[in-house]
Amino acid sequence: MRIGVLASGSGSNLQAILDACAAGHIDATVAVAISNVPGAPALDRARAAGATAELVPSTGVADRAAYDARLLDRLRAHRVDLVCLAGYMRLVTPAFLEAFGPTAETRGCPRVMNVHPALLPAFPGLHAQRQAVAYGVRFSGCTVHFVDTGTDTGPVIAQAVVPVLPDDTEEALAARILTEEHRVYPQAVQWFAEGRLSVAGRRVTVRGSGAPALSGLANPARELPGAAAASPRP
Ligand code: GRF
Repeated sequence: MRIGVLASGSGSNLQAILDACAAGHIDATVAVAISNVPGAPALDRARAAGATAELVPSTGVADRAAYDARLLDRLRAHRVDLVCLAGYMRLVTPAFLEAFGPTAETRGCPRVMNVHPALLPAFPGLHAQRQAVAYGVRFSGCTVHFVDTGTDTGPVIAQAVVPVLPDDTEEALAARILTEEHRVYPQAVQWFAEGRLSVAGRRVTVRGSGAPALSGLANPARELPGAAAASPRP
């Protein structure tokens, strides 16, 4: 399977996907990593891993449809099967989602995924960790979901929970959540690669997954090995 990753910033989730591919935990390759931001560290991470990195600048491109058409050109040129949004700070257009919509082989699954740093539907949109700290919730986490035309509203594939500690800052909570993102996102990609995901309405089924992991508070249970919980990747 060929993955296209769209990333605007640091690219630590891209790194987790690159690492999982290199380790054989994901049966896929990152065919291209694309950023809309010149100098985004994500591009360097892709190059360092030997993957193709491309800049498609979005500044000055007012027309979202025209920008997404350029993205589609690049993703098609690299024969991408699945698009992973990883800290991609733009909304994609309905035409983009249609181009990577479900096919007969994907059992109702769209072909665009995203990771969000909150337990959706709580705290969608920007600054999800800041929203969680300000609201005073005791738990937050991350959500990997298929992308639809709303903001962080698509069908949920997997979620992992972390505690929100009394003296947490936005940054401390973000680091704790990122550790879980780096485990759960590659896992969701591998489920897709294995053809284990299907979607009916809003409900995503993971074929062959066990019960939710009560000890790790990940749902469905974790399968892939990953970073130790105490060492978030910078
Ligand atoms: C992550 O927290 C992700 O959930 C959010 O943006 C952040 C991106 O981090 N959408 P990175 O660029 O993958 O390090």
